[in-house]
Amino acid sequence: MEMTIVIGLALAVLVFFLFKFLTPSKTKKNLLPQPWRIPILGHMHHLIGTIPHRGVTELARKYGPLMHLQLGEVSTIVVSSPRWAKEILTTYDITFADRPETLTGEIVAYHNTDIVFSPYGEHWRHLRKICTLELLNTKKVKSFQSLREEECWSLVNEIKASGSGKPIDLSKCISILIARIVSRATFGKGIKDEVGFREIVRETVQLTGGFDIADIFPSKKVLHHLSGKRAKLTKIHNKLATLINNIISDHPGSQLSSSQESLLDVLLRHKDDAEFPLTSDTVKAVIFDMFGAGTDTSHVTIEWAISELIKCPRAMEKLQVKLREAIKGKERIQEEDIQDLMYLKNVIKETLRLHPPLPLLIPRECREPCVIDGYDIPKKTKLLVNVFAINRDPEYWKDPESFIPERFENSPINIMGSEYEYLPFGGGRRRCPGASMGLANIELPLANLLCYFNWKLPDGASHEELDMTELFGAAIQRKTRLVLVPMFQEIVDGSR
Ligand code: HEM
Repeated sequence: MEMTIVIGLALAVLVFFLFKFLTPSKTKKNLLPQPWRIPILGHMHHLIGTIPHRGVTELARKYGPLMHLQLGEVSTIVVSSPRWAKEILTTYDITFADRPETLTGEIVAYHNTDIVFSPYGEHWRHLRKICTLELLNTKKVKSFQSLREEECWSLVNEIKASGSGKPIDLSKCISILIARIVSRATFGKGIKDEVGFREIVRETVQLTGGFDIADIFPSKKVLHHLSGKRAKLTKIHNKLATLINNIISDHPGSQLSSSQESLLDVLLRHKDDAEFPLTSDTVKAVIFDMFGAGTDTSHVTIEWAISELIKCPRAMEKLQVKLREAIKGKERIQEEDIQDLMYLKNVIKETLRLHPPLPLLIPRECREPCVIDGYDIPKKTKLLVNVFAINRDPEYWKDPESFIPERFENSPINIMGSEYEYLPFGGGRRRCPGASMGLANIELPLANLLCYFNWKLPDGASHEELDMTELFGAAIQRKTRLVLVPMFQEIVDGSR
């Protein structure tokens, strides 16, 4: 009897394997190209030791522009060419309009009630509408012009006061400047410890990279506790909530005109909406977004732009001459002076092409099963759009690895390439709503830093020696701080 059971089992196993290996499997046929995988981790081991966007780009070179990666338990598709980005962000935009659930979204963004982490639906649509019509539109961005000018001018004076010829930590200066601009725009005034506040937000966003144990095993809640991530996020969340609560309770109930309102004023006004009132938690979650999405992205772009210009003295000199001509001997730069300065805009575009702050965008998630190019994509598949590879695709960009701002001369590319070959702000329904604000927060600081100072590396190092290694984090930043020596430049009638 026992013998029969053993033989029966052995036969069952044999039949199972014969069936599995000899019958062409329908699912297998419809799987996207992918590297070899190991149990439990899937393809994660291919990314260990790499900076994720570079590791993913290496894999895409071998497995193609539409590739599948199993990251732990998360089935992921990676799109690495303009052609496929266009297809997914147009034809399949609504299918991929969700965001995957994350611990940060749950804990810090009050159960995904902000904009960044919110699932696609009525709540998200309503917040996007407030964003486009009131928070981040061109008129609102313009209303913060004088505070940007004041903050930039104080930084110029602080650097001047620290003395020409002494090295300064420019990364820190830029970080403080952006924190001041964003907190004044958000709260209407500087807050006691804007840099500390910003550091807490940064710490939170750093924990949202998408490649740690909690992100790749979202259903294994015990790992979230064991890795310490849940505890860390909860601690940060409590600190942030107390800080924002204090700011809100100190905030005078105001009857300001729309051009004088801070971002917080706008959000608080919507608490009393008859149709769609915002809760206090949503107001706090959106404030978190403004800092989380709006500070590091601008900060790292200014840092990379100056780094690229240091490495390319020709472009640096060209930009400085144009800037100094543009201010025509005025003591202090105003935004009107640089609004038509195409070379400045092209330097920023080229920086964002080579160093998109979010090189894999923010992950999206498939809302319903679909078939792309004959491949079955199940519901809840995660989508990474590999903008890093797209922005450097040699089929669309000549000499793609080089920093050449002139490539944008007479080019219609604005914040998005017409063929989806340029996507630093993403695309489709979930593209960045803060592009105008972000660009304004980059242009004026960059213009000030380059107009009033010439910069060199400390200890007589040559420009080729500047380290350009990246560090993966909230936004891709320099691994080493940008330490440079400023030399104050007197501007006389626009001449150097
Ligand atoms: C250089 C500056 C910036 C860059 C490069 C940038 C880039 C991005 C990218 C790539 C995304 C994801 C888009 C996608 O999934 O397709 C995004 C989303 C977002 N950004 Fe920005 N951003 C910048 C500045 C800002 C600023 C200043 C704000 C607000 C103050 C902001 C607010 C947001 C929000 C709320 C989202 C989420 C949109 C959604 O999920 O519907 N961004 N940004």
